[in-house]
Parts: sequence; structure tokens; C-alpha cells
Amino acid sequence: MLILVIGQGAREHAITQTLLKDKNVEVVCAPGNPGIAKIARTSTVSPNDADSVLALAKELTADLIVIGPEAPLVAGVADILRAHGFAVFGPSKSAAELEGSKAFAKEVMKAAGVPTAQAFLCVTVDEAGIALDKFGAPYVVKDDGLASGKGVVVTSDRQEALQHAMACIDSRDGGAVVIEEYLAGPEVSLFGISDGKTIVPLTPAQDFKRIFDNDQGPNTGGMGAYSPLPWAPDDLVAQVQKNILQPMIDEMAKRGTPFVGLLFAGLAITSSGVKVIEFNARFGDPETQVVLARLNSPLSEVLYAAATGKLDTQPMLQWKDQSAVTVVQAAQGYPDNPVTGAAISGIVEAEQQGVLVYHAGTTMDHFGNYLVNGGRVLSVTALGSDLGDARRRAYQGVERISFTGEQHRTDIALAAAQGEIKVP
Ligand code: AMP
Ligand code: GLY
Repeated sequence: MLILVIGQGAREHAITQTLLKDKNVEVVCAPGNPGIAKIARTSTVSPNDADSVLALAKELTADLIVIGPEAPLVAGVADILRAHGFAVFGPSKSAAELEGSKAFAKEVMKAAGVPTAQAFLCVTVDEAGIALDKFGAPYVVKDDGLASGKGVVVTSDRQEALQHAMACIDSRDGGAVVIEEYLAGPEVSLFGISDGKTIVPLTPAQDFKRIFDNDQGPNTGGMGAYSPLPWAPDDLVAQVQKNILQPMIDEMAKRGTPFVGLLFAGLAITSSGVKVIEFNARFGDPETQVVLARLNSPLSEVLYAAATGKLDTQPMLQWKDQSAVTVVQAAQGYPDNPVTGAAISGIVEAEQQGVLVYHAGTTMDHFGNYLVNGGRVLSVTALGSDLGDARRRAYQGVERISFTGEQHRTDIALAAAQGEIKVP
């Protein structure tokens, strides 16, 4: 089976590496990155350029196309590939609106009876001010459109909240802001793989959104993750499947826009039950790195079954008993102004210790040296007998790798490993 993976992050590196474990699978990744290029063929295609992606898929006679990032999904690349008869893992433009528009996601959740934070969509600053005062602090202010996880401000400072609301409204024509109730409780990322009818949940993970230790500083795309969640209720996955994932899939099918791909539920476990913070229409990054590290079933078969409407014939997914931790090494200045160009050393040495080093913002110079080329640079991932062990191994890898201005959190999976996370 020839699989074309679209994207260039650590997520696509992990997806490619996991697919390549399966028998008779060949992967081409476009555009990929220097880490992916070490394990698979890459092709210089821009993910958002549907015509070029289609031409590549035809040239390769791809059996399956897996679309990693949100931008090509929201731009409708999956629709064009499907219209030409390709099996695609990734939702249509209409279904990807669950991620592309927070207001749309809220509307579908309401129709499906899925629990989420109360929210108002505001298009003027006056409306935003009224909404802020209705909920009170801490304020949650979200850009209605795509913002790579950075469009959300959670703050107790009303002025800062109002300023972000204004920036979202002014950011483009038709700009709007969602202001919502603050959900208190530990967060969970749960992925479900769907063929539009059935949805198969994966194992839950937790992400670390803020740039600094102890959840300080601005939100990022994610600075680390771990799985499993020893503190989570035993029936968490079953509960989310029944009350959140399946109702969303049913509602999307009912609307004539079935969701085929990965539905990512960002959840908060609150004192009044599990509630949705947001949906994404794709694998999460960095959660994918830890979720796939623990997968024992053949990923290619599950994704192909989803893309061809046959998920109900798949055996149950099998997971390793081991724990996985990933730590993101980010560039100086990330998330606001990442500085590129620094030389990276120690990747090979870290790999020799047994960690998986997934590339994201890297490039290679003419001499074969890796250079920093983006905000999140590497995702260092380790398996261990428990979270403490996986953490120790991941950080040993991180210690080996250095570049000027490198930043990483030192507390990924720490509270969970120490048994300090409490469910309200
Ligand atoms: P989002 O992009 O919607 O996932 O938001 C990014 C992060 O902001 C989330 O992972 C949460 O940490 C935080 N957040 C978003 N919405 C809420 C909310 N209603 N209550 C509490 N925290 C939130
Ligand atoms: N780590 C969160 C995301 O992928 O959006």
C-alpha cells in the first residue's frame, strides 16, 4: 500500500514512522522535513495547493492519502482528492469547519446535545465587553477562525481580555470573537478515528499548552504531552465516546457532511462532568507523538478502513502497557517571534540513547547540519515502564540536544507521575 502523508511537522514524522512499521507499506510525505526524509521519500508540494497535491497523488497512484494539518482540510484539499477517486483520511471542507469555526462547532454541539462551555459570538467590542462581564474572571477569549492554538487568551485581566477580543474582530473582514465560560478542571485530549458513521476512540493524552513551567506564559501549539492518564476515571473513554464523539459524528452525518478523519476532542473534566473545550479536525501535535508510540495495532489498516467506510469491520485497537512522554524543544522567542537559523547538535546522540526525535521546525544546510527553522523545533519522545520512567528517558534525550536559545518545559508529565492530579 502506498500512502501519501501531507504535512511537515513532528506529528507527520510520528505518523510516517508508525505507518512504516506495518507490512507492505510505503510512505511518501509531502513536503515532509529533514527527519522524515531519513525514513521516507519526500516531495516538495505545498499542503494547501490542492492541484499540486492531486498531481502528486496521481503520479504516485496513492492508495491512501493522510492529511495532517488543519489548513489544507479547511481549504478543501480532501474534497478535491475524493472527487478524483482517492481514499482520503481527513475531513471535507464542510466537516473541517468543526475546527475552522468555533461558532460552527458550538452550534453543532448544541444540536447534538454535547456538553460544552456556554459562549457568545461577538462582532463588536461593545458586545464583547458585555459578554466578559456576564461570565466574569477568568475570561476566555477566542478568535473565531484558525490560529494554530494561539488565538485563545485565558486571563483574569479584563483589559487584556478586551484587547484580544478587539484584535480578533479587527484581524480580517468578518472577524469575530467567541467569549465563553471558564471550565475548571484537568484537560484531556481524546482522538477518535471515524469513517463518517462509526468512531473509534484512541487512548487519551494530556497536552501542555503554555510556554513556561507551571502553566505560565502565553499559549502555544503544545509544549509536551503524555499518555496514559493514570488519574483519569476508568470509564472516561467510554463516557466520551457515548456522550460526545458518537453524537457529533451522528449530527454531522445527519447534516449531509459526514466527518471522515480524526475528530480531536479537547476536554475539561469539571465538577459538573466532562465538557468540550474545542474540537480539532486532525491529529493533535504533540499528543500524536505519545498516542502513536503506544499503539500496537497496524495504523495503516485503521486509517484505510476509515477512509473507505469500513471501520465497523476493524478489530479492537491494542495499546502498549508502557507510558509515553514527549517534550517539545522550541526556538528562542517562541511563540511570539521564533528565531531561526541556530545550529542544532546532539540529535544522533539522543537517538542512540533510544529516544524518538521527531522533527518539526528543522532544516538541513549544505553541509548536512540541522538548523532551527520554526517555532517548535523537535519533539523528543520516550516510552517507559511508567510515566516517571518515560519522563526520565525523554529528558535524558532533551539534555543531549542543544541550540542557541533552546527552550523546553521541565514539568511535562511531572504532576501526573507524582500522583498530584485530582479530578474534581
Ligand atoms: P483551544 O484552542 O480552544 O483549545 O484553547 C487553548 C487552551 O486554552 C485550552 O487548551 C485551554 O487550556 C484553554 N481554554 C480554552 N477554552 C477554555 C475554557 N472555556 N475554560 C478554560 N480554559 C480554556
Ligand atoms: N496540541 C493541540 C493541538 O494540536 O491543537
